[in-house]
Amino acid sequence: MLVDMEIKKLNDIAGAEVLGLDLSRSLCSETRDAILSAFNEYHVLVFRNQTLSKDQQVNFTQQFGELEEHVGRLPDGSRYPIVHTVTNLDPVSGKPTTAPHTHGNYFWHTDKSYHAVPSLMTLLYAVDVPQTGGDTLFCNMQLAYNALTDPEKELLKSLKAIHSWEASRRNTGNIPASEEQKRERPPVSHPLVRTHPVTKNKSLYLGMHVGHIEGMAEEKSKRLLQNLLDKSTVERNIYRHSWQPGDLVIWDNRCLLHKADRNYDMSVHPRVLHRTVVKGTIPV
Ligand code: OGA
Ligand code: MN
Repeated sequence: MLVDMEIKKLNDIAGAEVLGLDLSRSLCSETRDAILSAFNEYHVLVFRNQTLSKDQQVNFTQQFGELEEHVGRLPDGSRYPIVHTVTNLDPVSGKPTTAPHTHGNYFWHTDKSYHAVPSLMTLLYAVDVPQTGGDTLFCNMQLAYNALTDPEKELLKSLKAIHSWEASRRNTGNIPASEEQKRERPPVSHPLVRTHPVTKNKSLYLGMHVGHIEGMAEEKSKRLLQNLLDKSTVERNIYRHSWQPGDLVIWDNRCLLHKADRNYDMSVHPRVLHRTVVKGTIPV
């Protein structure tokens, strides 16, 4: 039986609030299907006022597919656990810092595009967030694609981008990929324009995990990627999520770029979120 669930569209770019659900409890298949259908329509879903343990977040995540593992390592060298903590807290002092162990989340990207089979959905649960700022920005790459001219679309349609963990770390000035990580996640090639497997809409598929365009001279490739990113990430394509503690936000990596906004004092305010990721399909 369908519970009393309400879906409130937030804007025309991306985003809807889902009201009336307690995600710590298991969902019936009808509710799950209704969430998935709203997800495909609105790209970002916001569930407010949730109380979720890590296990409960895993249980909720598993209703949408296979959980992804991570290549990232914690400061002690161990692999990120399945429920990974996105944080600006220093691992030693436990205090907020402007230079956390990793800061890749502050650059435009789509999750795990350096995988041969990249992420479908990411789920982020707000444990401790600044009162204002530290927002997450979502850029609708379907709108970005639609705004291109026909000659641009023609030019891009056969191009492929090489994504890798190594390039990602380099592009973001993060701790370089280790040899072990490079072996675990060798470079992969994906179409620059991908078709959403459910809606069949086309999107630009790029971001900080891209090293270069296959078969294109380095400088030209860089200019093209920067130009596409600049044209895409304009206000009219962006939904800004302002966090409240207890928010669970889920988004579609197949048609969005996202990043955290540094619009808060990172050296003062803790920003801690729990993250799980669902595996998708090979981009075509
Ligand atoms: C992520 C991510 C953005 C943020 O968890 O995949 O990019 O706002 N997070 O921290
Ligand atoms: Mn991300």
